[in-house]
Amino acid sequence: MCKIGACAVIAAAGSGRRMGGVSKPNIKLLGKTLFEYVLEAFDSSNVSEIVVVCSEDNEESLRALAVGTKKPISFTRGGVTRAESVRNGVEASAKSSTLICVHDCARPFVTPEMINETLDAAYKHGAACVSSPVTDTIKQKDAVTGFVSTPERATLFAVQTPQCFKKSLYLQALNMLAESISSFTDETSLLEELGVEVCYIQRSETNMKLTAVDDVPIAEILMKRKGGDL
Ligand code: CTP
Ligand code: MG
Repeated sequence: MCKIGACAVIAAAGSGRRMGGVSKPNIKLLGKTLFEYVLEAFDSSNVSEIVVVCSEDNEESLRALAVGTKKPISFTRGGVTRAESVRNGVEASAKSSTLICVHDCARPFVTPEMINETLDAAYKHGAACVSSPVTDTIKQKDAVTGFVSTPERATLFAVQTPQCFKKSLYLQALNMLAESISSFTDETSLLEELGVEVCYIQRSETNMKLTAVDDVPIAEILMKRKGGDL
């Protein structure tokens, strides 16, 4: 089990445009907000501190929901893109936190075991991330020629969060790519640009992300089942 300082960076500063403009961390499943599900998992995990990256609109409500948290917790403001929000979160972490664990607040099924396994793998390999096999056939269209090709599905996988990495590697990548970080939709792509070999972990439990309004009732059913009520 990894015993070094690790900071959770919870990305919660998005605008929820595809959810109809609501703050996703405040959406409730079975009476509990996505933020509370995520915070409880991190509070029971091996991270040593938690940084919540919030927006002007949700800071007050998230601070109120975090009142019973046992681990040291702080709040910082997000940026225009997810990458900028994560950067702000990493910059707000304690000097003693040499590992970072980024998590999207839109994924409420995260568990302490999922967090700890990803942290341990990042400690060993430099960077690690939870992923899942792709079930649709994926097409790729060349932006210039318009030519459409079909990559072999068995070679494809989708990346999720938690994404954990050594802070020193992230800061190196940031230093190299500062101007263009907003074009990176996650931290694995940023680190791979630096040549880091990310360890991809597949786990069996659901780690669904809530994106659009229709995802809410589905997530609620899955949460009921997780709690043993279905
Ligand atoms: N996020 C963030 N700062 C941003 C954009 C996103 O912290 N500037 C966070 C979101 O709060 C979310 C996670 O990154 O927890 C993943 O983003 P996404 O699912 O795209 O959520 P939103 O950006 O809020 O939704 P949308 O893209 O529909 O506006
Ligand atoms: Mg977004």
